[in-house]
Amino acid sequence: MRQAGRYQLEYRTLRERYSLLEICRTPELCAQLTLLPVAQLGVDAAILFSDITMPLLALGVPFEIVEGTGPVIAVPVRTAADVDALRPVEPAEDLPFVLDAIRLVRREVRVPLIGFAGAPFTLASYLIEGRGSRDLVLTRRLLHGEPDVWAALMTRLTDATLAYLRAQVEAGAQAVQVFDSWVGALAPRDYAAAVLPHMRRLFDGLRATDAPTIHFGTGTAGLLPLMARAGGDVVSVDWRIGLGEAWALIGNAGIQGNLDPSTLLAPFGVAAAAAREILADAAGRPGHIFNLGHGILPQTPVDHVRRLVDLVHESFLVAPRPADARRPS
Ligand code: CP3
Repeated sequence: MRQAGRYQLEYRTLRERYSLLEICRTPELCAQLTLLPVAQLGVDAAILFSDITMPLLALGVPFEIVEGTGPVIAVPVRTAADVDALRPVEPAEDLPFVLDAIRLVRREVRVPLIGFAGAPFTLASYLIEGRGSRDLVLTRRLLHGEPDVWAALMTRLTDATLAYLRAQVEAGAQAVQVFDSWVGALAPRDYAAAVLPHMRRLFDGLRATDAPTIHFGTGTAGLLPLMARAGGDVVSVDWRIGLGEAWALIGNAGIQGNLDPSTLLAPFGVAAAAAREILADAAGRPGHIFNLGHGILPQTPVDHVRRLVDLVHESFLVAPRPADARRPS
């Protein structure tokens, strides 16, 4: 969850010289930042350093990434004509730097590399609102008031996301994560009607790649059964629901989560206790990826993150998974 970022001195130093967009467009810098947390924290997987806005470059939508705000789109996409003007995405031609960064990382790293993209709903929300928004009123207004424009936009963004993730797997990404960060704004019935069919097409399309998929959202306690139905080998949950309760709603899929990132700002014992509770909730059942519930906060001490990674690793040495426990000694 923003494994590389402002909580790291090395990242802040690089950002004095380059903007986030410049970093994202320079494969060597992306690769360097992707590898940084692996070396510094000892995490079990690398996530490509990039941003969910990259396909907007290919769609032909100008934007900025503003510190403290996130993506800002000066001319939002709100009409049928705006949707028609979006360009089809050809990842190898439009976003070669992302694919080159993946190839560079794969040459250097031993742990698996996760590629990612924003989900169509979350991308649509930035395109419609023009920036992040607390309640996504303009997005929900379009979804309800102009269902044809909504469906056309979601179809375009699903095509773009599918092409982009397929290209990432072809370039060497060994799993992909789809970030539907803001989908928790929706009522379950609206998710089912206006988002789920597109997500299902996306995950069905990704199955041909053989790369495992992670379906991420926040504030999704009311949507988890629908998200699991839409697809993803693993569903990611935030801290607003207990891990055990969430897993019961998800069913057979794996689960990722769900430490509250703010616990890492308190004395380390607080995060340690919360992490142990999550591990106890998972109870050694296979298919749990321990992670934060959402992005790491810029004020987080690196040392706390390192100790958290050690704690999770040690918990598996001290309390082996049931399969290991059954192995004859
Ligand atoms: O190492 C990694 O984890 C990969 C890095 C990564 C970034 N963005 C880099 C970044 C990932 C996985 C993303 C995805 C992303 N970007 C999402 C989905 C995941 C999530 O957190 O919900 C979203 C919604 C965005 C859009 C976005 N980009 C936001 C909301 C922000 C934060 C704005 C701020 O200043 O607080 C960004 C900027 C961004 N993307 C940063 C990083 C490291 C902050 C960096 C900076 O200004 O230098």
